[in-house]
Amino acid sequence: MSPTGCPVSASAAAFNPFEEAYAIDPAKVLKWSRDREPVFYSPEINYWVVTRYEDIKAVFRDNILYSPAVVLEPMTPPSDEAREVLASYDYAMNRTLVNEDEPAHMERRRVLMKSFELDELAHHEPMVRKLTKEYVDRLVDKGQADLVDEMLWGIPLTVALHFLGVPEEDMETLRQYSIDHTINTWGRPSPEEQVKVADGVGKFWQFAGQVLEKMRQDPSGNGWMEYAIRKQKELPDVVTDSYLHSMMMAGIVAAHETTANAAANMFRLLLDTPDVWEQLCENPALIPNAVEECLRFTGSISGWRRITTDATEIDGVEIPKGARLLIVSHSGNHDERHFEDPDEFDIFRQNSSEHLSFGYGSHQCLGKNLARMEMRIFLEEFTRRLPHMRLKPGAKYSYLPNTSFRGPDHLWVQWDPAKNPERSDPTALTSRADFPMGAPSLQDTTRQLTVAGVRREADGVIGLVLEDPSGRSLPKWSPGAHVELQIDQFKRKYSLCGGRANPAQWDIAVLREEAGRGGSKLIHDTLKPGMSVQVRGPKNHFRLDETCDRFVLIAGGIGITPILTMADRLKELGKDYELHYAGRTRDTMAFLDRLEQDHGERLHLYAKSAGLRMELPALIAGLVPEAAIYACGPDRLLAELQELTGDHPGGLHFEHFAPVDLALDPAKEHAFDVVLSDSDLSVHVPADKTVLQALRAVGFDVTSDCEEGICGSCEVAVLDGEIDHRDKVLTKAERDKGDRVLVCCSRACGKKLTLAL
Ligand code: FES
Repeated sequence: MSPTGCPVSASAAAFNPFEEAYAIDPAKVLKWSRDREPVFYSPEINYWVVTRYEDIKAVFRDNILYSPAVVLEPMTPPSDEAREVLASYDYAMNRTLVNEDEPAHMERRRVLMKSFELDELAHHEPMVRKLTKEYVDRLVDKGQADLVDEMLWGIPLTVALHFLGVPEEDMETLRQYSIDHTINTWGRPSPEEQVKVADGVGKFWQFAGQVLEKMRQDPSGNGWMEYAIRKQKELPDVVTDSYLHSMMMAGIVAAHETTANAAANMFRLLLDTPDVWEQLCENPALIPNAVEECLRFTGSISGWRRITTDATEIDGVEIPKGARLLIVSHSGNHDERHFEDPDEFDIFRQNSSEHLSFGYGSHQCLGKNLARMEMRIFLEEFTRRLPHMRLKPGAKYSYLPNTSFRGPDHLWVQWDPAKNPERSDPTALTSRADFPMGAPSLQDTTRQLTVAGVRREADGVIGLVLEDPSGRSLPKWSPGAHVELQIDQFKRKYSLCGGRANPAQWDIAVLREEAGRGGSKLIHDTLKPGMSVQVRGPKNHFRLDETCDRFVLIAGGIGITPILTMADRLKELGKDYELHYAGRTRDTMAFLDRLEQDHGERLHLYAKSAGLRMELPALIAGLVPEAAIYACGPDRLLAELQELTGDHPGGLHFEHFAPVDLALDPAKEHAFDVVLSDSDLSVHVPADKTVLQALRAVGFDVTSDCEEGICGSCEVAVLDGEIDHRDKVLTKAERDKGDRVLVCCSRACGKKLTLAL
């Protein structure tokens, strides 16, 4: 029985986060939970375990109901003997940035976060590059290396010490202290091990105290701890002695162990997928998003902890007051409800940076952009200097059993030094990329595909078949998904409209728009089989809610492309649907043969030249209330539908492809503030900047795609304030509710908007 008196399922009873399988792949171990029992009580650890993305995010979001106070509490209570050892060192680890409650936490965080802003972090980049080059210089001619021992601990630890302002001491000892701290806090040590790690933790505590004392004598340096000591003089009640000592020790661990593990996981995964490694070697612009996808797929944080301050409910499961929660971020990162085809490693994935590996909300990892920078520089250096590096065949991997951190203890790689590019080409030593700080720009994340076929689909419409030039499978996609083609300066979005069963090909259809900006004409006039095109995606902002029972699909002209795949899917599912498709003449209406053959009875065609018109008022008036409407077509068709369906219970879902004009004229705009309720911060939005730009400037990760108000990916929930909606995504009814905003284009009507961020 759980503490609330509910029976514990066999799978929940068997869950043990100290087993090797969990240390290696928590998401795989917890797939059953994401599928069937997303919140469960684990008698093994006396914790409630949360495994789905949205539930984990909701817990992170509310740091009052879900207090972080237990984050550094030992998972395994120390024995009396271990306690005595710790006491002999006056060990008194107290609250730090990760385990502190409000309001003290945000008060301190605000005082100390300046050093983590993007401009400040950028000062550390030359040092990280230099250090990385030196480490690679040491091993480049050896032909083999244990990347963990020979580099991936050393650099993050040096960077961490440099960032904190701590002199470089005995690095190996510090590494061992960190491991002891991890075992002591998140592991299940035996009684003998407890005494040993307690000794290491005690020594670590004393070391931190001594360094702090030395720094106090001259706190004029540029390190974060020196900055904190100076702040203590200004605000002694906010930055206290006990806080500084605890932060010194926790900071050394937090600033390097997570990065070291994340980098080791990244190299293991990339070298295990040679085709992806090769793509990075060929095109370094892909590195920032590849790092993000590695953090999603195989990040170094398995799970984090919280304790409830009141009785509550998560996903329908009752949780008592004082319950300890293990929120398994790694599992959330593999939740198919949030990430399309989540167990596919796809460096072109468009929402990789929404991973939970840095946490979320006001406790989100402050050092995330430093970690990103290090991982990007490591990859850039290795893909350039050792592109022929491979995992050592037959090497065994071991992972430290614990609830929260994951990474291999060793990572053996090998290569033939005779093939090092720099031996024959000195330019191989020149850095190929200079990545901007912060979350990656999706604009660089394009894949190069080959046009495998061009065919006529209707008058003015051609169909293109796209394939990977190396024959790699393309990611799976769902009905309503689209890709973006980049041809010269043109970027145009096209719905995927072929069969979904063939992973080798994507199909799109392109209407020649004589009055358009020129992109479609260029595609019609120039694209031939065998040519290369740059493609981003797939993305889906027009997702079919398959839980509905009745559907009405409406297409105008080329808007048939996403609607067609939705009809195919509904037929496959055996759902009740009807499809209405309007065009000028039958000759201009694409896919008629396929539609008539596959959806004959459900299909209603309206060719204007034959005197047939799609009468929307009559069509909508005749619908059953629960019918969900999905529509794609010209702006005027969608505008009319919005007018007619404002209060239709089944809802209207639609997709635009024509962008919004986003040019901001500062003379006509006004500045305002956005208050970020989950993070307890306020950000100023000047008249000449979008909300998205203002958030990014202070280091916030907000996913965006089109940045033209048509895709919906930058949507953020609004808690207060009147919105000046400028997007083409939200329906009139959604706008009237005033509870969400597209931050790439929409603004505040007044002086303030409060966002759930
Ligand atoms: Fe596409 Fe904002 S990024 S609507």
